[in-house]
Amino acid sequence: MLAAFTLLKTAQKVKEFLFQKKALHTEYLPQKQLDHIYFPMAKKIRVPSAQIVDTKFSFEKKLRSLRIEDLLEGKLTKKEFTLLPRSQEIIGSIMILEILPELEKKEKIIAEAYLTLTKHIQTVVKKKEVHSGVFRTRRVQIIAGKRTKETIHYENGIKLKVHLEKTYFTSRLANERLRIAKLVQKDEEVLVMFSGVAPYPLVIAKNSEAKKVYGIEINPFAHQYALENIALNKLEDKVVIYEGDVRNLLPKLRKKFDRIVMPLPKTGEEFLYLVLPRLKHNGFIHLYAFLEEGKIEAERKQILERGRVLGYSLECRTIVTCGQFSPSTFRVCFDLKMREKRKKKI
Ligand SMILES: C[S@@+](CC[C@H](N)C(=O)[O-])C[C@H]1O[C@@H](n2cnc3c(N)ncnc32)[C@H](O)[C@@H]1O
Repeated sequence: MLAAFTLLKTAQKVKEFLFQKKALHTEYLPQKQLDHIYFPMAKKIRVPSAQIVDTKFSFEKKLRSLRIEDLLEGKLTKKEFTLLPRSQEIIGSIMILEILPELEKKEKIIAEAYLTLTKHIQTVVKKKEVHSGVFRTRRVQIIAGKRTKETIHYENGIKLKVHLEKTYFTSRLANERLRIAKLVQKDEEVLVMFSGVAPYPLVIAKNSEAKKVYGIEINPFAHQYALENIALNKLEDKVVIYEGDVRNLLPKLRKKFDRIVMPLPKTGEEFLYLVLPRLKHNGFIHLYAFLEEGKIEAERKQILERGRVLGYSLECRTIVTCGQFSPSTFRVCFDLKMREKRKKKI
């Protein structure tokens, strides 16, 4: 077989050259020999720093990593293959699937295939309903593996104990949580409204130089998990959380914050009247909403207008899309800055 033969010290350069020229045979593994290496070639070209040789040996074929389709070969029809879940959410050792009604009869073999394919997954569940109610929880049904709905999830340097039904949690916001943490400046005091099992407070505390991060959560189960998570991460000196309704608790916290995070996309905006008096001059608010693309600008104007009516001047610094709620609806974060406080004329 045709190969580029070169010294190990020039191997990287030769490999890149072959790759650029589409001359590297990617189905085979390169072969080392003392301080030289042979790169299998798909076509004959001149290669700087390498000798082109016709090897007497054959190269070892690369093993292709298994795909879900390989494991389900012969078990699903052609039509059923097209209905397989396109994406799966993984929380700790649990995989969450969205199984279409047409595939329900095959859900067990599909789930078992995912268990075989993904080594660190111990349980596969399917969504039974969308998040709803004040606690934003949902039901899931175990379809294969260990019978548990509780797991430990790792993200951004923290551990989170989560129960998939008793509490809200999504692993899909990991990047967004880190984005917010990176915006936090030294010695800031941050409030996370609607703090759940405390992913935002803990990611911020771990990845910034915040002085203190506070959280408020109404769901008693989520609050208990949050307390456990603070201890699990040994962040008791940086994170303080309260159980209750923000409407009752926030007025009692006689404090102002440098930054307030509002991760309650469906109704968060309605809480601006509570939050604005608690924000320091030049402070920031991160307000989440679910919006269709064409409605983002109108929402931005409405938020600023709401602030104005309440007697505050807000500036929208950035609008970040950080996920998708449905094919046409996005999770959007408005990064707002308090410009100045105006006295409200009565
Ligand atoms: C969308 S979840 C976000 C949870 C968490 N921040 C996260 O990212 O995983 C919203 C949370 O707000 C809580 N919540 C809803 N209304 C509330 C209120 N009035 N006061 C305090 N918490 C509230 C719910 O129980 C739920 O845990």
